[in-house]
Amino acid sequence: MPTIVCENIHRKIPSLNGGATLHDSLQAEGVRVFKGAKNYCPFTLLCHGRGWCGNCTIEIVSGSENLNPVTGLERKQFGPDPGSHRLACQCAARGDVTIRIRP
Ligand code: FES
Repeated sequence: MPTIVCENIHRKIPSLNGGATLHDSLQAEGVRVFKGAKNYCPFTLLCHGRGWCGNCTIEIVSGSENLNPVTGLERKQFGPDPGSHRLACQCAARGDVTIRIRP
């Protein structure tokens, strides 16, 4: 089972099976993915993990090769070269990955 290491909060999270997104795996372990005081934002109420709001932005520290390719929604959010940024709701881990949440 792939592991998601959240470097900036010192947590190791098991990735959920079945192609679950990082967003789903982090939320299942109670990790606050979104910016702000609570684990949701008004935009998320509209987005529901569809890649529109950008509030689940994470930074990939290592293991990007273990993620699915950058999606069109992520290119729309970050531009043609997203660098180390991904949307947690748009990527799933096939192997271990180290990230920073709420960068
Ligand atoms: S939850 Fe809105 S872009 Fe990921």
